[in-house]
Amino acid sequence: MELSEPLVLAVTGADHTRSVAAAIARQCEPGDVLLLAGDLGAGKTTFAQGFARALGITEPVTSPTFTLVRQYPVSGSGERPLQTLFHADVYRLGHLQEIADLGLGELVEDGGVALVEWGDLAEPVLGEGALSVHLAGDDGWDDHRTITVSAGRSWYGRWDALSSALGEWKVVR
Ligand SMILES: Nc1ncnc2c1ncn2[C@@H]1O[C@H](COP(=O)(O)OP(=O)(O)OP(=O)(O)O)[C@@H](O)[C@H]1O
Ligand SMILES: [Mg+2]
Repeated sequence: MELSEPLVLAVTGADHTRSVAAAIARQCEPGDVLLLAGDLGAGKTTFAQGFARALGITEPVTSPTFTLVRQYPVSGSGERPLQTLFHADVYRLGHLQEIADLGLGELVEDGGVALVEWGDLAEPVLGEGALSVHLAGDDGWDDHRTITVSAGRSWYGRWDALSSALGEWKVVR
């Protein structure tokens, strides 16, 4: 199978990052895991806020650094509705086994979708099939970020739709 080229997006400001996240959320299906990577302050939680808002979640979304996993009900509709958003932050977990013990892969099986901050650390456990979203800025004080989205296996069939949904921000069209 041909691998999908990563999508490289340019955004200016937190609202753009939220809009990108919302566009991705609209392409998500139950069972999806998104690995959010990027340095301190890169915009991982900002991304989670835009994603949650697109799912109709009105509770404020903040970094789950100390709780590890937060859970938000989603009132989805349709044939396979999304029921729960899981928002995890694995920054404090030193061992892959601790990440595996969170059981995110199993949690999303029943109508869930998961966002994992510092998701690059979870790659060996959750990487297969996941969507990787990497946020990077030249420095933390600038509003410009480059967001690179790479597909795991479960996204190959949705790649063209995702790519068009993100067309507005693509660096190379
Ligand atoms: N283009 C942008 N995308 C996202 N955030 C931006 C952008 N420009 C400026 N910001 C600001 O940068 C900060 C990003 O903080 P955020 O908590 O989302 O980062 P984080 O990656 O979750 O950090 P941490 O590693 O501490 O969890 C916010 O204050 C946000 O307003
Ligand atoms: Mg955060």
